[in-house]
Parts: sequence; structure tokens; C-alpha cells
Amino acid sequence: MTNPTTFEVCEEKPVANPKEAAGRQAAELVESGMRVGLGTGSTVAFTLARLAERVASEGLEVHGVPTSIDTQTRAVELGIPLMTLAEVERLDLTIDGADEIDAAFQMIKGGGGALLREKVVASISERVAIVVGRDKVVERLGLSFLLPVEVVPFALPTVSRELRGIGCEPVLRLDGPSEPFHTDNGNRIFDCRFPDGIADAPTLERELACVPGIVESGLFIGLAHTALIGADDGSVSVTHHRP
Ligand code: 5RP
Repeated sequence: MTNPTTFEVCEEKPVANPKEAAGRQAAELVESGMRVGLGTGSTVAFTLARLAERVASEGLEVHGVPTSIDTQTRAVELGIPLMTLAEVERLDLTIDGADEIDAAFQMIKGGGGALLREKVVASISERVAIVVGRDKVVERLGLSFLLPVEVVPFALPTVSRELRGIGCEPVLRLDGPSEPFHTDNGNRIFDCRFPDGIADAPTLERELACVPGIVESGLFIGLAHTALIGADDGSVSVTHHRP
């Protein structure tokens, strides 16, 4: 893995919320005419708000492809023009959050349950920028955040056994006290606990992709180019990496 280069960028007045600082800063990467993948989560919500400000104040011409129904709803409310995957082959840029990111830009995503659409959108993007607070930066994935795995409902029992065989403990994500969580695609999520974390994320991603019934895992490997990492003082460090 090449060593990422880090430099400080803070063009706006610093804001003391790390997510807000990173999220807003990422919106400055968008140029007029771009087609942009719009990620999901509380950090990207700040990106969407800033993007909408730029559309209104600068006349920025942008079309977004949302990665979840939640993001779609927010974008429509904010007046950000949207398009579908049927209307676009490639995206110029995607801005998304992450639950964990390591020095090689390997990530766990899917805390908000949007991992499948997020990975599809990232996969057709020329550039992917990740917005996180510094608390999301880890040395080893999977030690503090469970790995989300999206599963078709029919295959929950078989996938559960396969996941245990792979060495993790799958926990069915719930929506409230007893109802299973439904993804935007009508699937379920196992949040997987790896007792010693994830030593070899690329191998695990490939292993999971081979299990019938698993639609997608929250391991994002080789997809991110840029990380905007917000600190508690409101500064944002921008790190680039060649996937
Ligand atoms: C949703 C995701 C989010 O990007 C991730 O959970 C980070 O969310 P937040 O910005 O709210 O911390 O992967 O599926």
C-alpha cells in the first residue's frame, strides 16, 4: 500500500462539529456540471445542506444520484436536482460517510443500512471522497464497529451458519424492540462481530461475496480516493490515496 499524503485544508470558517466540518468541506469538491453520488448518513447530511446552499447562491449545476431513500428525500427537500442510474453511466464524484476507515482507505460502511446502494454508486464513480470525524479512523477494522452484511430474507438461516463458519458472530439488526430492520432493497442486515477485528479485509470481502444469499458486505476496499477527516477543533485534514 502506498502512503497517503495529508495536508490541511480549511477554507471556510471552522465549525466545531467534526462531522459538520468534514461534510461541508466536501461540498466544495463539487464543480458545476458534475454528476455526483450522494452518500447516506449524518455526515453527508451536512454535505447536502452545503451543496444546496451552493446551488442556490452560485447557480452550481449539479445532478445527484442518491444512495438511499433517506438521502433522496433530503435532496428533494433541499432542491438538489437528482437523476437515476438509468440516466448516467459514470459519476464524476461520490461523497459518502463511513463507520470505520484505516490508513489504506479500507472501510466498514452500512451503519445506516445503505451499503448496497452505496457500493453500487461508488463503483461507477471516478472519484470517491469520504467524510468522517477523526473517531472513525482506526488501525484495524472491525474491533469497535460490527460489520454489516446485507442478506436476502429467505437465506437468513443458511447465511447465519456460513458467517459463523467464517469466524464471526452475526447479530440480526432490529428496527425497534423486535422487528427486523428492512433495507431500502427489502433485505435484512446481520451485524457481524469479529472477536479480533478483521485482519485481512480484501480476502474477507471476497469470501463473503461467495456466500449465496449475501447481497453485499459493508467492506469497501479500493474504492475511496480522498478522505476528509474532521477534528474536534473544526479543522479538516484531506488525505489522498490511490486505490
Ligand atoms: C450508511 C453508511 C454511512 O455512511 C455510515 O454509517 C456513516 O454514517 P454517519 O455519517 O451518520 O456517521 O455507511 O449505510
